[in-house]
Amino acid sequence: MAKPRSLYVCNECGAESAQYFGKCPFCASWNSLIEQVIAPTAANSAKIGVGAAARATKRTKTSDRNEPHPLAALTLPEISDHAQARLSSGYGELDRVLGGGIVPGSLVLIGGDPGIGKSTLLLQVANQLASHYRVLYVCAEESGQQVKLRAQRLGIRGQRLAGGESAAKHLASQSLTPSTLYLLPEIDLETILAELEALRPPVAVIDSIQALYFASLNSAPGSVSQVRECTSALMQLAKREHITLFIVGHVTKEGAIAGPKVLEHMVDTVLYFEGDRYASHRLLRSVKNRFGATNELGVFQMVDQGLEQVQNPSELFLGSRDEENPGTATIVACEGTRPLVVELQALVSPTSYPSPRRTATGIEYNRLLQILAVLEKRVGIPLSKLDAYVASSGGLNVAEPAADLGVAIAVAASFRDRVVDSGVVLIGEVGLGGQVRPVSQMELRLKEAAKLGFKRAIVPASQANYPGVGLEVIPVGRVVDAIAIALVSTKKNE
Ligand code: TYD
Ligand code: MG
Repeated sequence: MAKPRSLYVCNECGAESAQYFGKCPFCASWNSLIEQVIAPTAANSAKIGVGAAARATKRTKTSDRNEPHPLAALTLPEISDHAQARLSSGYGELDRVLGGGIVPGSLVLIGGDPGIGKSTLLLQVANQLASHYRVLYVCAEESGQQVKLRAQRLGIRGQRLAGGESAAKHLASQSLTPSTLYLLPEIDLETILAELEALRPPVAVIDSIQALYFASLNSAPGSVSQVRECTSALMQLAKREHITLFIVGHVTKEGAIAGPKVLEHMVDTVLYFEGDRYASHRLLRSVKNRFGATNELGVFQMVDQGLEQVQNPSELFLGSRDEENPGTATIVACEGTRPLVVELQALVSPTSYPSPRRTATGIEYNRLLQILAVLEKRVGIPLSKLDAYVASSGGLNVAEPAADLGVAIAVAASFRDRVVDSGVVLIGEVGLGGQVRPVSQMELRLKEAAKLGFKRAIVPASQANYPGVGLEVIPVGRVVDAIAIALVSTKKNE
């Protein structure tokens, strides 16, 4: 009988090696290798070997006899249409991120920082879905009492089963359990799988995958092999029984979903729940979606009674437009197919350091440096002795180049202590030569600005032809022209 052997698995990248290394030879992260003892599963490996060998011989035999191999492959028309209506989660913002509702039988992975509201969101969604379907919420991280406390805070009461029976009794007496929310505080994978099979809920939530434990593996919950095995077992059951699974995943300190990358490959949809710890808004973003567009954005707000949807997020990021502040410019960013009107603020002031300070909050630091260089060289604004601070309102991350023109105008306005026309939005990428370059989804952006009452939009010269969007479109070729148009007045109290 073969001896058990040790394998070292990297917790960051999932690479395996026979030897321990302080630094993973594949992803170069330190102290990430975890020992995993492999018990000899001779039966299994033999089975795989035999299977492959048998298939190989079968093929040879058929080809020997010159008989056609019975094809299992199908043409597209041969595959039956399985057009199943999407389920609504009860939250339009989540449905939007999923590409128009929940696809029955799909696997959705939701990652996010601790305390951002993943459990809150999924408990609320589970509760909404439970009014039509049986929903199983596996709370592997918290006890039933803790979840109940949260539910009470969210105003979720649940349904008492008829005659005060327990769920188990009810299940025994009825062939079909009623649509309600069931909680399962459990970490053992086998128990969870058995419960899923017995209850056959159309929707289930696993909170979280890192807390599950598969006893046959000799590693701790949350380790690469545990996460991989638990997900693949859950996935097989979910696909077989047509269960929609929402899986909560932790994130590493770099912000990626913890565990092997294969986790993200296995599931159908990957969502990130993010937000500023100090601000109440939360953004749900899709980074992978087999059933819809990626980079879609849903906006929620954390209030005392849990998460609320924000129907018109532009208003959230616009700030107040009544005061006239020098150094404030408005842009229209686009997240997936969702346009967001966002206010940018800039402040430039003489530096007291040998080299000036630059900080960028909500916009990309390197793009800021590039725009400052363009303003200095192409527009003639001497910024090399000035500190520059640029921030987006509400801390929203606008990484796209379409924000460039807004950043340039905000900095120029702060430098000249002038006010940007409050009825103007700025849309455009700034090239190194000081030219204003075209951006994507212009019509969508213009319509959103018009909807919020903006009167004029300064856009790249090649994108001027948008009649009927509801505002005046002003094409500009160079940043310097945009500055001349956008800065309208000197500060009132001068
Ligand atoms: P939680 O869902 O437990 O986060 P996660 O599962 O992502 O770790 O969110 C908890 C946070 O949300 C906590 O900091 C408190 C806050 N919260 C509210 O502000 N209002 C509420 O109604 C609830 C339930 C939580
Ligand atoms: Mg949680």
